[in-house]
Amino acid sequence: MAGVAKLRDFVRGMTRLAEAEAAEERWVAEGGALLGRLVAEDDWLPEDYAIPGPSYRQYLLHCDPLERFCVVSFVWGPGQKTPLHDHLVWGLVGMLRGSEISTPYLPGSPMQAGEKEVLTPGQVAAVSPQLGDLHVVENAYADRASISIHCYGGNIGAILRHTYDPATGTQKRFISGYTNRMVPNLWDRSLELRPAQ
Ligand SMILES: [Fe+2]
Repeated sequence: MAGVAKLRDFVRGMTRLAEAEAAEERWVAEGGALLGRLVAEDDWLPEDYAIPGPSYRQYLLHCDPLERFCVVSFVWGPGQKTPLHDHLVWGLVGMLRGSEISTPYLPGSPMQAGEKEVLTPGQVAAVSPQLGDLHVVENAYADRASISIHCYGGNIGAILRHTYDPATGTQKRFISGYTNRMVPNLWDRSLELRPAQ
């Protein structure tokens, strides 16, 4: 399977989990395995969704029509970093290219930082209000871009979430949005079908 077909296959697998009304544990276990397969090879992400910018970018690759899940290409320029934030839904992070560092935090005033987790290509991590939902994420590299593929249990760019001041625990309202206006065309299957004509 080549190119965007790999992403289409992943979207189909995740849609089957949505159809089965999977509980969070199943999304994390089975969805995490599907995401692990997707990021095992870095040969399918269209170039337009891999371009870094002046701050980290979130390109929507697919949103389920009923907003039960979405898939996002998260592109880090050199040294870029998120504020401390929450998600409020389950989230899966699969490392595609380069490396990122997640620092988990516990609620409080001040908020306590946990042990840093480093993700390398092919690895998958999970966040959720049950598993631990507060973290800062940064590109592990100061001299090159990194890309991770995220999947969340909702339309993450349109969910009202929060950023936090780690010194005080004070919340601020936050809606991340998306960098792109167009999503990849997963459905032009003519190239696969034409040779069989
Ligand atoms: Fe996050």
